[in-house]
Amino acid sequence: MAPFKIVMVRHGESEWNEKNLFCGWYDANLSEKGKQEAENAGKALKDAGYKFDIAYTSVLTRAQVTLQAILKGIGQDDLQTIKTWRLNERHYGGLTGLNKAETAAKYGDEQVAIWRRSFDIPPPPMEADHAYYDTIVKDPRYSEGPTPDQFPKFESLKLTIERTLPFWNETIVPQIKAGKQILIAAHGNSLRGIVKHLDQLTDDQIMQLNLPTGIPFVYTLDDNLKPIKSLEFLGDPETVKKAMEAVAAQGKAK
Ligand code: 3PG
Repeated sequence: MAPFKIVMVRHGESEWNEKNLFCGWYDANLSEKGKQEAENAGKALKDAGYKFDIAYTSVLTRAQVTLQAILKGIGQDDLQTIKTWRLNERHYGGLTGLNKAETAAKYGDEQVAIWRRSFDIPPPPMEADHAYYDTIVKDPRYSEGPTPDQFPKFESLKLTIERTLPFWNETIVPQIKAGKQILIAAHGNSLRGIVKHLDQLTDDQIMQLNLPTGIPFVYTLDDNLKPIKSLEFLGDPETVKKAMEAVAAQGKAK
């Protein structure tokens, strides 16, 4: 049956990306640019001839709206879609709502780079008095999970991977092995976790990876789900490179 292809895409730019705010589990909408990126992603996938059997996305609006725009673009509006908190963006804890550049000015670029891109160093926790604590914890969409003891107050990439991988292994992998064509619309860090797992990247290597918004990428996998080809973006290399550099630069003091 191999090789298997799986398509993944980080949501289009969100309104909080546009304002350069730590977003995490805050449910930001797409910016106008992000909506256009999502539409462009649908066009790129249509031009490349992709059709899907099933799609997976997170609980968060920015990923779901991106997915819907893509499905509209490829003429598969009614495709079966599974939504799970396990594909949510990493929870940015107490940093949620803070401006990334201002945070870098206060704590230093290096500290912000550690909070954003390190493997196992989490951001500070989101305490109950945090401005966005109630809107996140009391969101009725989490009634199906995570359980109260699983509900994060902060996540490192390691903690994010620990809640994403069970879904990848138990739900997505069987579909891949059954030959289903799969699309995942998720977030920069939940996707970085899947990339780290697939490519067996070291903790240092994954620190270097910044995923651009709204540009689909393809993995080609063998029978054992080992990558034959990794991170093949459906966009011109220069545009992808610049977009990745822009994501990295978000965390630097002005
Ligand atoms: C966020 O949650 O702030 C972004 O969607 C991802 O942020 P990062 O690129 O700073 O990890």
